[in-house]
Amino acid sequence: MVRGPGEVRVTLSVNGQPRTIAIEPRVSLLDALRERMGLTGAKKGCNQGACGACTVWVDGRAVLACLTLAVGCEAREVTTIEGLSTGGELHPMQSAFIERDAFQCGYCTPGQIMSAVAFLAEGHEPDDAHIREWMSGNLCRCAAYPHIRAAIRQVRDANSTGAS
Ligand code: FES
Ligand code: FES
Repeated sequence: MVRGPGEVRVTLSVNGQPRTIAIEPRVSLLDALRERMGLTGAKKGCNQGACGACTVWVDGRAVLACLTLAVGCEAREVTTIEGLSTGGELHPMQSAFIERDAFQCGYCTPGQIMSAVAFLAEGHEPDDAHIREWMSGNLCRCAAYPHIRAAIRQVRDANSTGAS
């Protein structure tokens, strides 16, 4: 791999695939994903940690990719919305967002879904108040909040009955 002046080599796993890129140390994970790896699912809303549109997982935990340095992801496992479905099947949260009409323009949706799946996976008390609190970091300018929470409750309830 050819490195430009001031660039460093970073090797990480993205959606289960090993990737090696040469980047300047100041490059965010969000820019590395979108501009160097062609993964544009994570969105750049505010680029300053205020909207949640860039939410991805690093080692299974939700992070804001705009505030995460790509060099800090050396040897880490990064998961983006593109890696959420398996075998061509939508993740249950993706299906629930469709069924509950939980988006309008869709710009915030990848971040909403990555946060929502992390919320349930991390074992938080999944009552309505905690859903509201956890998801408060993901803004939606279309104000689809009631539908987003309904989608999360749908997956929560399916999980608790073993239906999903
Ligand atoms: Fe990262 Fe808004 S783009 S929080
Ligand atoms: Fe448009 Fe959320 S669906 S910003």
